Amino acid sequence: MEENNKKILLSGVKPTGRPHIGNYFGAMKQFVDLQDKYQAYVFIADLHALTTSRDPKQLRQDTLDLVFDYLAIGLDPEKVIFFKQSDILEHTNLGWIFNCLTTMPYLARAHAFKDAEVKNKEVNVGLFDYPLLMAADILLYDTDVVPVGQDQKQHVEIARDTAEKFNFSYGETFKLPVPLILDDVKTVIGLDGQKMSKSYGNTIPLFADEAEIKKLVATIKTDSKGVEESKNPEECNVFALHKLFTPTEQLTEIKKRYIDGGIGYKESKDILADNMNKYLTPLREKRAEIAKDPAKVIEILKKGAEIGRKKAEAKMTDVRAKVGIDL
Ligand code: ADP
Ligand code: TRP
Repeated sequence: MEENNKKILLSGVKPTGRPHIGNYFGAMKQFVDLQDKYQAYVFIADLHALTTSRDPKQLRQDTLDLVFDYLAIGLDPEKVIFFKQSDILEHTNLGWIFNCLTTMPYLARAHAFKDAEVKNKEVNVGLFDYPLLMAADILLYDTDVVPVGQDQKQHVEIARDTAEKFNFSYGETFKLPVPLILDDVKTVIGLDGQKMSKSYGNTIPLFADEAEIKKLVATIKTDSKGVEESKNPEECNVFALHKLFTPTEQLTEIKKRYIDGGIGYKESKDILADNMNKYLTPLREKRAEIAKDPAKVIEILKKGAEIGRKKAEAKMTDVRAKVGIDL
């Protein structure tokens, strides 16, 4: 499956519940768009999820759900090596070796740890060590690029530092990865006009059904201008979402009616809900189809792990020899 002339892209996604349309346009979709250009490795970061999960049933369900989500939006397991992190034991193996190479003060500078500390959250060792498992994820596969949002950039830098440290101590072994910062020009706004985010409770779930979409769209915050009044489309939360879902021609017409007066927020929202449903229904249907056969999906992950493991094992053979645990 792997094509030698393509650069290697790798990313992990944590199973953390229902994705929203902000996640879709801001990350998931761009990710699928990259699958042809690169040889991509995508995995479900279930070991990372364990730093916060205590509910095995929930974790299993979230893991399957996330695989359904990605397959439904077009991630192609024929092109992408798609697997579950915990199925390739080399990740934790290499993580341990990195533990022995890294100092506590260095890891204490990581944003995620500092945030947790500031919020007075209990920090388990796994959470403290999170960046080094992530470094292992990345470095095992000779990754060239790691597509991430701004918040994960530091983690990729830690992976680079760790690669350099290892190479310096034991000789050239790991390729230095670079972050591919996803285009977040299109920050999707939520129902209240702030950035759409799970933590603000203002989301529209990507796989919401028709009725839920209609109901949520009806709650988008607007000013109280009447139907005939002129409105500034650039200041309207409903219009901001039209830009993502409404076809160009209709969008131009709606824009004119905003400026000239003659369209009320109720009508604008009805059109938006319709267009969102036109866009999202095929994804929702595809997801429902995929979710009918979890055994097939588990098989996809198993095959992905078989392919990924070959590469990870070869890398670990080299690492074991370099550090002297091979005999
Ligand atoms: P949330 O804020 O809902 O918890 P996450 O922080 O888990 O979302 O984000 C996962 C990915 O989705 C990140 O790459 C992030 O950049 C992207 N993303 C999240 N919300 C938005 C948004 N409103 N607009 C664009 N991209 C977003
Ligand atoms: N930490 C990443 C996140 O929260 C998930 C992740 C784990 C990851 N391992 C990775 C991302 C390796 C990129 C590469 O989103």
